[in-house]
Amino acid sequence: MSEVEQLKERITRREYTVGVIGLGYVGLPLVLRFGEVGFRVMGFDIDNAKVEQLNRGASYIQHVAGHRVKALGETRRFEATTDLRRLAEPDAIIICVPTPLTEHRDPDLHFVEKTADAVAAALRRNQLVCLESTTYPGTTDEIVLPRLRAGGLRVGEDFFLAFSPEREDPGNTQFDTATIPKVVGGVTPACLTLATTLYAQAIKQVVPVTSTRVAEATKILENVYRAVNIALVNELKIAFERMGINVWDVIEAAKTKPFGFQPFYPGPGLGGHCIPIDPFYLTWKAREYGVATRFIELAGEINSGMPAYVIMKVMEALNERGKALKGSRVLVLGAAYKKDTDDSRESPGLEIMEELFHRGAKVDYSDPHLPRLPIVRKHRIDLTSVPLTEASLREYDAVLLVTDHSKFPYDLIHRSASLIVDSRNAFRARQLTGPHVVPA
Ligand SMILES: NC(=O)c1ccc[n+]([C@@H]2O[C@H](COP(=O)([O-])OP(=O)(O)OC[C@H]3O[C@@H](n4cnc5c(N)ncnc54)[C@H](O)[C@@H]3O)[C@@H](O)[C@H]2O)c1
Repeated sequence: MSEVEQLKERITRREYTVGVIGLGYVGLPLVLRFGEVGFRVMGFDIDNAKVEQLNRGASYIQHVAGHRVKALGETRRFEATTDLRRLAEPDAIIICVPTPLTEHRDPDLHFVEKTADAVAAALRRNQLVCLESTTYPGTTDEIVLPRLRAGGLRVGEDFFLAFSPEREDPGNTQFDTATIPKVVGGVTPACLTLATTLYAQAIKQVVPVTSTRVAEATKILENVYRAVNIALVNELKIAFERMGINVWDVIEAAKTKPFGFQPFYPGPGLGGHCIPIDPFYLTWKAREYGVATRFIELAGEINSGMPAYVIMKVMEALNERGKALKGSRVLVLGAAYKKDTDDSRESPGLEIMEELFHRGAKVDYSDPHLPRLPIVRKHRIDLTSVPLTEASLREYDAVLLVTDHSKFPYDLIHRSASLIVDSRNAFRARQLTGPHVVPA
């Protein structure tokens, strides 16, 4: 039996340890899933607080249930550590570290580079390494592979390398790690065989592709597709509004077409780790080839203008009521970027709050998932979430809905607030209308 066949057998017999580096929104559900299907699993992270919490059997992500972490801990097949020197222990290493943009909106790959260095320092024969972080086509070949090769081991023979994009959709109750199909590309055929064998143990459908570059580009296509379509409906929202047409009514009607149309919805701006960021990884790489990615740039321009549009709608609505934004009390509903999650990364809510402050408004916020605003890279607003009561709501000159969390008491807000600016069509969708409800 060839060595690759032997490794495959070890994987299917679960005599194989899976290590995951970066235990965030992507890495934590993944390490849990591999553990739950019977592998010994190790979690690696530089954040000591996360590692301690996991080893105590607790979760720090709202939609990842603590009892799953606890149950896996009790099997004694799971351990989290900050000691990257232990990377020689797992047979497979899956990398799920962040891939943000720099201040100049260029790819910031330093997390991937540092992690690849740590893996290279511990790399031993027969290890399989899979990168999952979203990135531009070529990263696995150009950034990770040279580092792993530097010690003299040969890819496809002594060690194996693949790319498999993460498609996690936090808060989505219909799909989870096990049921979201997994695209996998290997550096060599042996790399692909081992990576697809591994993922097939934990994930229902594995989709092998011809190279790591195809796998990297697949994820970028998916996110560019979302960014462009969201920009399209954001632009149409503004155009239709001038014509007295509600864009949400139009989308509801259009989506009855059984083919050739997929609904996307406008909003106060893009948020999260993916859609506002990933397309620009491609833009940057395309420049190396002398290609301009105009759709991406245009979508970015439209989407990044949405927070300013929403603020203009607040100013207009206050103006109608004889008030200036400066000095007005504004309550922002929702600081997470996405409905029913606690994730505030790149949240338009934070940008909107900062801009409202900047223009002299007195700003509060309420978010059932974020009791306190986290201090993030770009925004440093120190506020705690205010409770929503009839009395508290009456005190505001305007209430601005940014994130349409299911937990908000929409009837109470509708009854008590003197002015509601709704960037999500959440009130109208619940038949809560009136002259004090303004779309944005
Ligand atoms: N969040 C999503 O919904 C989502 C979906 C699809 C793809 N992705 C992609 O997956 C990747 C990870 O995203 P995320 O949302 O899980 O990020 P995250 O910030 O939630 O988690 C990343 C983790 O990596 C750790 N880390 C950073 N540097 C490290 C290092 N050198 N060694 C060990 N650990 C390190 C951090 O402490 C953190 O816990 C990104 O490339 C992202 O674009 C995210």
